[in-house]
Amino acid sequence: MSAQGNGNSNGPGTGIDWRRVSLLWAVPGHAADMAALHATMFDQPWDEAAIISLLAHPGSVALVASAGQPMVVGGFGLAQVAADEAELLTIGIAETWRRHGLGSRLLDALKRAAERAGARSLFLEVAASNTAALALYAKHGFAESGRRKGYYARPGGTAEDAIVMRCPLGG
Ligand SMILES: CC(C)(COP(=O)(O)OP(=O)(O)OC[C@H]1O[C@@H](n2cnc3c(N)ncnc32)[C@H](O)[C@@H]1OP(=O)(O)O)[C@@H](O)C(=O)NCCC(=O)NCCS
Repeated sequence: MSAQGNGNSNGPGTGIDWRRVSLLWAVPGHAADMAALHATMFDQPWDEAAIISLLAHPGSVALVASAGQPMVVGGFGLAQVAADEAELLTIGIAETWRRHGLGSRLLDALKRAAERAGARSLFLEVAASNTAALALYAKHGFAESGRRKGYYARPGGTAEDAIVMRCPLGG
């Protein structure tokens, strides 16, 4: 997952009671909101159709963080389980919703769901410069298990390493 700097928070504002943010199973009806949010965070955005297709995968485990009436989606996380391994494909919280514990809540819930689906390890890739995500993952029991040199292409012809991380599940 390669995150970009975040100019656009995609609308969800403040004034939210963070304790009332719900985590819901992601369904195709959330895909447009997930895609819009994804595009604010990542330099290779996933469109609605791509997200619907990922949600339809039998090993898919996906959640959205939402609040308000009408409901606003302010975060998402999507993992895929295959046999006893799971991979976290993406996780993101809208810029104005960050640092309220929602990334942690999403990650905890995804870990539990992947474990219930039979996974014993959760893997992910993260850009070496993504200090916020690295801190989140370290806090949740992930440790570096490998490195992919120059994995993420960056503007100007540069490239950045991906750190592969693994978290044991079911312990
Ligand atoms: C990474 C991300 C999901 C964290 O979401 P969040 O809701 O702000 O995270 P939380 O509030 O639950 O924070 C949990 C822990 O993560 C770490 N953390 C989160 N943001 C951080 C930051 N900006 N700097 C340092 N540590 C940070 C801290 O350890 C924090 O614990 P603390 O609050 O007790 O210090 C969010 O910054 C994001 O969406 N980033 C853009 C997308 C992205 O990079 N996704 C990951 C791709 S691999």
